[in-house]
Amino acid sequence: MAQNGTSVSIQDLSLNFGSVTVLETLNLDVAEGEFIVLLGPSGCGKSTLLNCIAGLLDVSEGRIFIKGMNVTWEEPKDRGIGMVFQSYALYPQMTVEKNLSFGLRVAGTPRDEIAKRIARAAEILQIEPLLQRKPAALSGGQRQRVAIGRALVRDVDVFLFDEPLSNLDAKLRAELRVEIKLLHRKLQNTMIYVTHDQIEAMTLADRIAVMKGGVIQQLDAPQTIYNRPVNRFVAGFLGSPAMNFLDGQVEAGAAFKTGNVSIPLDRYAFDAGGNSSGPCVFGIRPEHIAFGEAANTMPFAIDAAVEIVEPMGSDTLVWTKLGGHNFSFRVEAEKTLRNGEPIRIGFDPARASLFDTQSGNRI
Ligand SMILES: Nc1ncnc2c1ncn2[C@@H]1O[C@H](COP(=O)(O)OP(=O)(O)OP(=O)(O)O)[C@@H](O)[C@H]1O
Ligand SMILES: [Mg+2]
Repeated sequence: MAQNGTSVSIQDLSLNFGSVTVLETLNLDVAEGEFIVLLGPSGCGKSTLLNCIAGLLDVSEGRIFIKGMNVTWEEPKDRGIGMVFQSYALYPQMTVEKNLSFGLRVAGTPRDEIAKRIARAAEILQIEPLLQRKPAALSGGQRQRVAIGRALVRDVDVFLFDEPLSNLDAKLRAELRVEIKLLHRKLQNTMIYVTHDQIEAMTLADRIAVMKGGVIQQLDAPQTIYNRPVNRFVAGFLGSPAMNFLDGQVEAGAAFKTGNVSIPLDRYAFDAGGNSSGPCVFGIRPEHIAFGEAANTMPFAIDAAVEIVEPMGSDTLVWTKLGGHNFSFRVEAEKTLRNGEPIRIGFDPARASLFDTQSGNRI
């Protein structure tokens, strides 16, 4: 049974399409009012999981509770959920107002109640001036807001979003991202939000569930996932520009060796007991590298040379070599660096992540 304060509880959920297992004994508890983001590459099972929660797919095994009620075999309409899809799926022949009220009219909701709910949703989403237009006369962002409105008027406990912003251009996506965050703050509903956009995940989520191959790899607060990824997959999936990975060896838990470089590990917090030895991957993010004078204040510093400079606007990504591996770090946009220029870089190994080469797990 789901305990108090749990909004959605997924227990040992498996889903197969024929002989293909898409979700495998998956467990997930979502707290009341929590904003959970399901993040993962294409095909990892995000939509499938969401559709199971919504009741659009029959599960092969396991149970789903919403507000403590076993809804595993309930009809979608009886689950107290509202779903927003990637394709807005608005009725083209109906006005915005009719699109919003359609579900309520079908359910026999009284007229004045419908009017009240539409007015509220329209105000929250700022689509009041659009109510008499048809979808063809709306921009992508406005259509998406109407699609959210359709879930909103249903007055549900749990909102399910499946990549609601992926059809929009970058600017609109950023705007609506903020609106969704404000909406959550206002409504305080439970939200389960699917995306493969790590920025959306980082900015919106209370907790992120990173998925791969139908399995949740890590479920944690965004900062924890970012700073202490449980495996190499999670480390590589979050962060742009991506984390640097160096292949090498841990020597008696004291140092990491790659090529002719030795990085001290006395400041690194090993996960399982410490004294690890053997092949491993050293990961460190480009923004955790100090450069120039600042490099010499770091526990580890080394001479290198600029290979490629990539200006990104707000800052610049510089590529060099470390122990024979490509290695990138960020500097302020104002810095001018020439190819081949000798530089000093450094970092604190406490900020690094070490992964077992074989299993990919954090050590
Ligand atoms: N009806 C189906 N029959 C067989 N396989 C399916 C079916 N629906 C989905 N799949 C497979 O299940 C896996 C997970 O699909 P799902 O749509 O959940 O991925 P996703 O994480 O939402 O990906 P995306 O980011 O591309 O939307 C995929 O490999 C997909 O091909
Ligand atoms: Mg999907």
